[in-house]
Amino acid sequence: MFIDAHAHYEDEAFDADRVEIFEKIQKAGCEAVIDAAQDVKTAELILSMAEQYPFLYANIGVHPHCAALFKDEDMGEIEEMAKHPKCVAVGEIGLDYHYDFSPRDRQKQVFREHIRLARKISKPVVVHDREAHQDTLDILQEEKADECGCLIHCYSGSREMAKIIMKRDYYVSIGGAVTFKNARHIIEALEVIPLERILLETDCPYMTPVPYRGKRNDSELIPFTAKKIAEIKSVSLDSVFEITRNNTKDFFGLK
Ligand code: NI
Repeated sequence: MFIDAHAHYEDEAFDADRVEIFEKIQKAGCEAVIDAAQDVKTAELILSMAEQYPFLYANIGVHPHCAALFKDEDMGEIEEMAKHPKCVAVGEIGLDYHYDFSPRDRQKQVFREHIRLARKISKPVVVHDREAHQDTLDILQEEKADECGCLIHCYSGSREMAKIIMKRDYYVSIGGAVTFKNARHIIEALEVIPLERILLETDCPYMTPVPYRGKRNDSELIPFTAKKIAEIKSVSLDSVFEITRNNTKDFFGLK
């Protein structure tokens, strides 16, 4: 049994067969899924899914890509949704300097406001950091994210950054990218991240692990990612499943 700590099943890529996929992944051993919002609209969709499906939980927040279009007056609606019992974290939030779809100042502002919200409602944050490592670390520290708990999803930082975030008691979630040919950096970083701080994720429909890279991703493919982590950590596949599953339950407060 395993848990998918970060997915996007509200994505239109699943519109045609979402119900079948949910049945399939549960049969494959996926016990729970944490689905992360991008904006107000996806947050509403995910919450309605979470109300319908007991195994599905929500992260509510505004992705850096959507920060430009996000209106400050909608923060109240985000807060209301984030208080929902099936919302287990504020996310996904953060900075993306690779695409720069939103101006960086706006990304930073929306990121900070969400960390403040997370602390206010005592739920952890789930962070997206793409080519924005230093600013991400600075803002998380200035806004005291360690007080609410912090997960860096789809970790792509260096080994040095990993040491810093381990000192701060953050967690990381690892997806299909660890199986890619160019995964050397992630593998080096994972050497200084204990298994007790690692969660498994898909980020589906994206980030499909080898040997299915290029196809649509879903939680059934998590064992390929877990197997790679088992190799890196020289432990059994079962211990990776068991430990990451416990980590995910602890981090999000799942029963
Ligand atoms: Ni994501």
